[in-house]
Amino acid sequence: MSADIASALPLTGLPLRAEGVTAGYGGDPVIRGITLSADPGEVVSLVGPNGSGKSTLLKSMVGVIRISAGSVVVGNRNVTNLAPEEIARAAVGYVPQVDDVFAPLSVRENLEMGGYLLPRKQVPERIDRVLAIFPRLATMLTRRAGKLSGGERKMLAMGRVLMLDPGVFLLDEPTANLAPMIAASLLEDQVRALAAHGATVLIVEQRARAVLAISDRTYVLGGGEVRMMGTPAELSGSPEFVESFLGGGSSHAVPAGGGNDDAQDTGEDSHPHG
Ligand SMILES: Nc1ncnc2c1ncn2[C@@H]1O[C@H](COP(=O)(O)OP(=O)(O)OP(=O)(O)O)[C@@H](O)[C@H]1O
Ligand SMILES: [Mg+2]
Repeated sequence: MSADIASALPLTGLPLRAEGVTAGYGGDPVIRGITLSADPGEVVSLVGPNGSGKSTLLKSMVGVIRISAGSVVVGNRNVTNLAPEEIARAAVGYVPQVDDVFAPLSVRENLEMGGYLLPRKQVPERIDRVLAIFPRLATMLTRRAGKLSGGERKMLAMGRVLMLDPGVFLLDEPTANLAPMIAASLLEDQVRALAAHGATVLIVEQRARAVLAISDRTYVLGGGEVRMMGTPAELSGSPEFVESFLGGGSSHAVPAGGGNDDAQDTGEDSHPHG
């Protein structure tokens, strides 16, 4: 899946700002007072234990669930509580953690659905561009999305979002269920390249170590609030962060500092703290 994002993508990133965002599912808020920012050319990551509100934050930013307090601004547009398609039109591409493709539809139909806001005649050229970025998809255009491998499916999910040429990407665990090498390539090649070509990227990841390696800054969520924020170097120097999220292990890019060496390198070893 050698990607040629470089030639295919001049992206116009937009600054993303969440200010005091509070949201939930009807009862008590699940996330409270979350403030974060990401700028064009940056990969900003969001890590935290299961249930800490990472997906909820993304959902609130793209209009899937209602924000009860606070605001979300993209560029100079306030998109707080707009409908999801309005936020997509405002150049925000969202790849959800689950239900990221339409399983019964073919690869081509999924890409066409991704282009639903485009003038019809623009759709084929956008599909060509996505296929230039993810050539593997070109060999399986008529295959049902439900029959793709995990990695192929994520490529299709990102391709679907690319159809609208977003300037801001919100990616919810794009490497979940992927083999480590494919996950690393997705992060280091595809995700990093989006930012390198001007896009703003906010990515949720369980693989704290791997995502730190491609992040400019990282926010740590715990219990629905921001607990820490920093550059990879700053967080790698925090004993609390290292113990909670890096757990020792043998991977690269992070100074030694604690934990034990028999931690599985799945990155799924984060646990609640604080
Ligand atoms: N549709 C929903 N209705 C009610 N509560 C929900 C819903 N989705 C999530 N929650 C609850 O909101 C809290 C935060 O969930 P969220 O999915 O945001 O966590 P997360 O940080 O993304 O976790 P994970 O790492 O497991 O994906 C959890 O307690 C969860 O049970
Ligand atoms: Mg989640």
